[in-house]
Amino acid sequence: MIDNITITRPDDWHLHLRDGEVLADIVPHTARRFARAIVMPNLKPPVTTTTQALDYRQRILDAAPGHSNFHPLMTLYLTGSTSAEEIRLARASGAVQAVKYYPAGATTNSDAGVTDLTRVYPILEVMAEEQMPLLVHGEVVDAQIDVFDREAVFIERVLLPLLQDISGLKIVFEHITTRDAVELVKKTPQRLGATITPQHLLMNRNAIFQGGINPHHYCLPVLKREEHRLALVEAATSGDPRFFLGTDSAPHARDAKESACGCAGMYSAHAAIELYAQVFDEAGALHRLEAFASFHGADFYGLPRNQDAITLVRESWRVPEHFHFGSSELVPLGAGQMLSWKLAVQ
Ligand code: DOR
Ligand code: ZN
Repeated sequence: MIDNITITRPDDWHLHLRDGEVLADIVPHTARRFARAIVMPNLKPPVTTTTQALDYRQRILDAAPGHSNFHPLMTLYLTGSTSAEEIRLARASGAVQAVKYYPAGATTNSDAGVTDLTRVYPILEVMAEEQMPLLVHGEVVDAQIDVFDREAVFIERVLLPLLQDISGLKIVFEHITTRDAVELVKKTPQRLGATITPQHLLMNRNAIFQGGINPHHYCLPVLKREEHRLALVEAATSGDPRFFLGTDSAPHARDAKESACGCAGMYSAHAAIELYAQVFDEAGALHRLEAFASFHGADFYGLPRNQDAITLVRESWRVPEHFHFGSSELVPLGAGQMLSWKLAVQ
């Protein structure tokens, strides 16, 4: 049995860091493990300009002074008024790596998102020209559509037309949760990639209700049936370069989760690569972890692979029940549970 594994330092291609005093509590978790992270722009108000992205980037760096090798990669939030000039500025800055599309109303802080993607097609054409990837939250916002079907319907209604209409655009289908999404990525040419979270690899929708309703297992897109989880594990561990690591770690204060109307989002940054190692180990595919975690995303974005390495050892450790989160508390994924892989101290 393998009892340790050394891999090229991984990157997190989908991460929420929030802003303000909580940054100092959470950025170090990611910075200890990852070299780079694509930072989501769904702040209040959202990050819509390059200037805002650069300022936010500096606040992130200031929050992790001991981690000078950590590089946040910034994103802009696509709105109905995003301009071509802003896309060009973003590209020229070198600090903004992508633009995020939230269907308006789909998830946390998505109200400023886009209602009808076809209206911003001219901007997407500019993005294609500038080789600026579009990151999509792939769920339709339609009260008529069952919440468990929103990703599959998004493929039909939005993603397939988009792939056909804007031919040069690189797209990342973020946090995929269904077999339908896996199959779409597999049959589409290289310019469509997908991130997969630890929670969607580890849990199916039963976890939301196990032992009573558990708000810490609620995220968007919501956990799906076991058959979909199995399809995601198969995709992540297959070695196919279009699937790569993106945690969607999304911290919310305990009282915002444990509430009559709890927020969507799971926090996994405290143990992200360890959780993926567990999935790959259980699938007998530890030898494929490095490509999924450290190569495929960088290659997709056209960025260099990292030079240094991390080591994970097979050693059980207990996840803390909670972390500081400004003046509140944060309950992490797996709180109080034993994990089987541990990051070696460097
Ligand atoms: O569960 C989620 N939480 N899904 C998202 O798309 C957003 C995220 C957040 O920002 O909390
Ligand atoms: Zn997200």
